[in-house]
Amino acid sequence: MWVGKYYLTTPIYYVNAQPHLGHAYTTIVGDALARWHRLLGDDVYFLTGTDEHGLKIQQAADAAGTSPQAFTDSIAPLFQKAWERLNISNNDFIRTTEPRHRVGVQKLLQACFDAGDIELDKYSGLYCVACEAYFTEDDLDNNLCPIHKRPVEHVEEENYFFRLSRFEQRLIDWYSSHPGAVVPEHRVNEVIGFIKQGLQDFSVSRKTLTWGIPLPFDESHVAYVWFDALANYITAIGYGSDDAKFNEWWPVNHHLIGKDIIRFHNVYWPAMLMSAGIEPPKGWAVGGWLLVGGEKMSKTSGNVVNPLDLVDEFGVDGFRYYVLSDTTYGNDGDFTYEGLVSRYNSDLANNLGNLAARVATVVGKKCNGVGTAPDPNSPLAEHARTAVADTIAQWEIVQPSRALEATWGLIRATNAHLENNEPWKAEAGPLVDTVMGDALEALRIVTLLAFPAIPDTAREIWRRIGMTTDIESCRIPADVQWGQYPVGSPVEKGDPLFPRRTLA
Ligand code: MSP
Repeated sequence: MWVGKYYLTTPIYYVNAQPHLGHAYTTIVGDALARWHRLLGDDVYFLTGTDEHGLKIQQAADAAGTSPQAFTDSIAPLFQKAWERLNISNNDFIRTTEPRHRVGVQKLLQACFDAGDIELDKYSGLYCVACEAYFTEDDLDNNLCPIHKRPVEHVEEENYFFRLSRFEQRLIDWYSSHPGAVVPEHRVNEVIGFIKQGLQDFSVSRKTLTWGIPLPFDESHVAYVWFDALANYITAIGYGSDDAKFNEWWPVNHHLIGKDIIRFHNVYWPAMLMSAGIEPPKGWAVGGWLLVGGEKMSKTSGNVVNPLDLVDEFGVDGFRYYVLSDTTYGNDGDFTYEGLVSRYNSDLANNLGNLAARVATVVGKKCNGVGTAPDPNSPLAEHARTAVADTIAQWEIVQPSRALEATWGLIRATNAHLENNEPWKAEAGPLVDTVMGDALEALRIVTLLAFPAIPDTAREIWRRIGMTTDIESCRIPADVQWGQYPVGSPVEKGDPLFPRRTLA
C-alpha cells in the first residue's frame, strides 16, 4: 500500500506568557489535521514547541527575577501539559534551547554565510521588542508599533545581515510556479504584494544580547531570535543532527501560522532555505486571530482566556469542537462564552448527543439492543456519500469548520430520517430494523469522520454502537463507504455524551 508522508507544524510559542486561547486554537487545528491525515493513511509527523530565546524572553526572565534558562524551564512544561490536556497528538515538541536545535541553527547560519548571503554591516533602526522586529518610520502607527501599539526603540548596532534583497525575483518566481502553496488562496497576494514593495536586508545577529545561539563564524554575536525560531522546523527533524531523518521529512507539507507572522514565514524563511540550498516548504495554511470581545487577547486588555478553564467546563471535546467549528480558518473569529454555550448545545448536545442516545434507546427497546442491517438503497446512503466527499475536500484545503459542517449535515439528515419514520412509535419488526440499521450506519460513518475533532467522544460512540475495531486503525475513504456496520453487534446506551449547559 502507498503511504504518503505528511509533515505538519504549528508556530513555536513564546514562553513569556502561559498558553492562552489563541495558542490553543492554532494547536487544535494542527492536531485535528494531523489526526485526519493519519486516517487517510499518511505517515504523519506533527511538530509543535516553544520559542525560548531573544530579548523578549530575557526581559520576562529579568522581570521574574530569574535566569532565562530557569525561566524558560518553568514555562515550557506549561505548554506541554496544556497540550496533553487538550489531547494534542504531536509527535515531537521542540524547545529552541535544546542541543539538537543549536547545532542545526549554527549549520544553517554557516550555510547562508558560506553562500555569501550573510555579511557584516552597520544598522540603525526602530525596534519593537514585543514583535522582535524592526520597523521603518512609515510602518509606525502614531509613532507606535502597528501591531502592539507600544513605543519602539531606536537601535544602532553593527550586525550581520541576511541579504534578503537578493531574493525578490527568486521568491516571486517560486510562488508563481507553486500555485496553491498558500491557503486560503487570497493570502498569497499579501505575500507577493509585500515582496514587490522591495525587500530589505534584515539583521540576523545581536551583539548586545547574550540569550541566544552564538554565530558559528563570530561568537561575539548571537543569532536573531526569528532566524533561530524559524529554523526549528528543520532542526526538529534532524537538520544538523540526523541527515536521514531530515531527508525523510523535509519539505514540510503545511506550516500552520497566524496572519501576524506571514512575513517571517513566507518571505524570510523560504529565502533563508534557498540561500542554504534547501527546498522551500510545500505549503502554508494561514489562520486569522481568535479575538475576545472583538479584540486580540493581551495582558494589558485583561481579556486573556485560559483554555483549560473552558475544558473543565465543556470537556476536552466540547472545547475542541467549538474552536474548530466556530471560526472559518483564515478569517478572524470572536470567542464569546454565549457562543460557546450555544454551539455546544445545538451541535453537540442536540444533534450528535441526541442522535447517539436516540439510536441506542430505540435499538434497546425495539431490536433487543442488537444492531440491525442498513438498507443499501437508503436515502441516507446518498447523504453519506455527499457528506464524505465534502468532508474530505474541506480537510484537504485546511478548512476544519467547513469539514465539520459537512459531517454535521449527515447527523442532521439522520435525525430527520428518524423523525420522518418515528421508529419509537412503530411495532418492532423489519421496518424498524431497517430504519435503525440506517441510523447506526450513518452514526458509524459520522463518528469516524468526526474523530479528528472529538477523538475521545468518537471512541466512546464507536464502542457503544458495538464496533470492536480500533477507530484509529480505520481508513478514509475505504471505511466510510455505506453498508459496513457489523450487524448483530451489541448497542449500549450509556450516559449523555454532552449534557446540556445553561448560561452561567
Ligand atoms: N514565537 C513566534 C512564532 C515563531 S514560529 C517560528 C510567535 N509566538 S506567539 O506565541 O506570539 O504566537 C504564535 C502563534 O499564535 C502566532 O501564529 C499567532 O498568530 C498565534 N496567536 C497568538 N494569539 C492568537 C490569537 N488570539 N488568535 C489566534 N492565533 C493567535 O509569534
